[in-house]
Amino acid sequence: MLEDGLHAVPAGHTASVVTHLQMLEEAPQRPEADLPLSLRRIEHPDPDWYLGLFRKVGEPWLWFGRLVMPHDALVDLLRDAAVHVYAVRDKARDEVGLLELDFRETGACELAYFGLVPGAVGGGAGRWMMNRAIRLAWAQEISRFHVHTCTLDHPAALAFYHRSGFMPYAREIEIAPDPRLTGLIPEAAAPHVPLIRG
Ligand SMILES: CC(C)(COP(=O)(O)OP(=O)(O)OC[C@H]1O[C@@H](n2cnc3c(N)ncnc32)[C@H](O)[C@@H]1OP(=O)(O)O)[C@@H](O)C(=O)NCCC(=O)NCCS
Repeated sequence: MLEDGLHAVPAGHTASVVTHLQMLEEAPQRPEADLPLSLRRIEHPDPDWYLGLFRKVGEPWLWFGRLVMPHDALVDLLRDAAVHVYAVRDKARDEVGLLELDFRETGACELAYFGLVPGAVGGGAGRWMMNRAIRLAWAQEISRFHVHTCTLDHPAALAFYHRSGFMPYAREIEIAPDPRLTGLIPEAAAPHVPLIRG
């Protein structure tokens, strides 16, 4: 049990507050803009392709989860029939969003990754993608759809998930090596999170 009060974070590390949210029945669809987007499931994604999109979406927010995964483990994950990876494309067929639904736990779905490339944020594509994520998750035999977001993510993400029908139920603190200092992500990424070197 962590004591109340301030806790020093080691230099070279990030610290974030993680909020866990869940939806126990299918939330209604919210109004969405009519956008020239398409969503396509990528069967057996190529790890290099996957990591490319993961980086495009996640680097500004210091997403490191898939970058620290051993390559063999990532290959196994992407081959798992219970892990559904989708790409959102715009009318120029550029990939602008990543949606990953993880059904490996019986009766549940984790919204494992959900995000847009920086140029697509704030124009309605998030709501468009979330409406489809909710339908796809609940089209399977589940009684729980869950997600977590942290304070390094886009500042609108938590409220966005809440409006989408996810209810917060737990909170954690995560301390991790800063991925910009371990060479996983360029040092210039996420200027809103100051680098504190050892
Ligand atoms: C989280 C994230 C997906 C949210 O998407 P977003 O692009 O910010 O949100 P949108 O612009 O689609 O939606 C916000 C609201 O504005 C509305 N909106 C935005 N543009 C609109 C338009 N042109 N016409 C109509 N409505 C519009 C949406 O309908 C939505 O309304 P609602 O939430 O009340 O239903 C996005 O911020 C993101 O990808 N961030 C980076 C990665 C990240 O942090 N992911 C979360 C990590 S867990």
